[in-house]
This record gives sequence, C-alpha cells and structure tokens, in this order.
Amino acid sequence: MSRFKAVIFDLDGVITDTAHYHYLAWKRLAESQGVHFDHAFNENLKGIDRMGSLDLILASSKRAYTREEKLALADEKNLHYQELISTMSAADLLPGAVRALDTVRARGLRIGLASVSKNAFTVLGRLGITDKFDYVVDAATIARGKPDPEIFLKAARELGVAPEDCLGVEDAVAGVASIKSAGMFALGIGHPFVLTQADVVITSLSDFNLESY
Ligand code: BG6
Ligand code: MG
Repeated sequence: MSRFKAVIFDLDGVITDTAHYHYLAWKRLAESQGVHFDHAFNENLKGIDRMGSLDLILASSKRAYTREEKLALADEKNLHYQELISTMSAADLLPGAVRALDTVRARGLRIGLASVSKNAFTVLGRLGITDKFDYVVDAATIARGKPDPEIFLKAARELGVAPEDCLGVEDAVAGVASIKSAGMFALGIGHPFVLTQADVVITSLSDFNLESY
C-alpha cells in the first residue's frame, strides 16, 4: 500500500535523458554568443523554462540584447533541440522509467506529468508512453515556471488529488523546490548533495520503490 494517491513526474532527466540534449543545444547557443558553458552552469538551467534559461546564459554576455534578438536566439536553440530529439524512440527511456509508471498504475494511483518543456508532448510521443499518463500539463498554459509551484499544483488539481497526497519526482533543484512549495513529497533523481530540498533522493528510477516513501 502507498500513502499517496498520485505520482507526478517531471520528464527531462527523469523519464528520458533529454537533459543532455538541452545541454548540447544550450552549449552551442551560449558559445555562439561568446559565453562559456559547462555542466556546472547547466545544472542551474535544469527545470527552467526556455526564456528563463536564455536570460541566465545571456547574463554572462558583455552585450545587451533586444527582445527580438532574444526570441530569435531561443528559436535557434529550440530548432537545434528539435533536431536532436527527432530520432528519439522507446530506446531512449531511462532505466526503470516504464517499470515505475507501470507500478504506480498497478497500485491504482493517478499519474501526471509536470514538465515546463513545450516539446513534452513530442517527446512523450517519440517514447511511445503518452497513454501511460492520466494528465499531462501543457507548458504553454503555465504562467510561472519552476521553482514556482504552479505546474505541480495544476497537475494535482486536474488529477483531482490534494497536493499532500501527491508524490513529485524531479531531477532539478528548481523542480524539487516547486514540488516542496506545492506541499508535496519530493523524490529527487540525482545526488543528495545537489537536491538538498528533496525528501528522498535516488540515483535513477531503477531504484523507485513506491511503498518505501
Ligand atoms: C525543462 C528542462 O524540462 O524544459 C529545461 O529541464 C528546458 O532544460 C525546459 O529548458 C524548457 O524546454 P523547451 O523544450 O520548452 O525549450
Ligand atoms: Mg528535469
């Protein structure tokens, strides 16, 4: 028996390794603007929406950018990202992801997806797992990205489950903060030194054990 009534998953870096594709696309964009970009900096961008990520990168640039220039750069990054994900398939599911989703389903809990990525529906389709979710938040309808709780609260509301009965699963510092300020239990995927706000941290969904949280 689980004490939760719903599990709300993040997508990038939890269910599939698109976090790496975002990294590659941002790195090329940042370097085209003369901004140094590495894995440590990328950690701050995980879970942050497209324009928010761009602003963080351009804050290290020597020049100022107009709104139009920023939109063009965001489009450029997104086109590169879409090229990188265009060949994805079920082979790109991270270890344990399908088993975790199926376990939650078998226990009779509701399943939601809370990703701020506007490419989330495409990625789910490529992975072939769209129908495993009862509700997928459309990132285009979210006014405030992570760490704001809006996206996790919307998922809970649409699933008809109180926040305190939800388990949120995240690989990003901003994502864990979003789950915690929504009043949910946070399961971190990654390193406890990084995801310090999470209630429990596991290395990957291979270690997912619903009954132990
Ligand atoms: C998040 C990723 O899930 O989606 C971020 O962790 C990314 O790295 C964000 O920037 C927005 O994605 P997209 O596909 O809308 O540019
Ligand atoms: Mg993520």
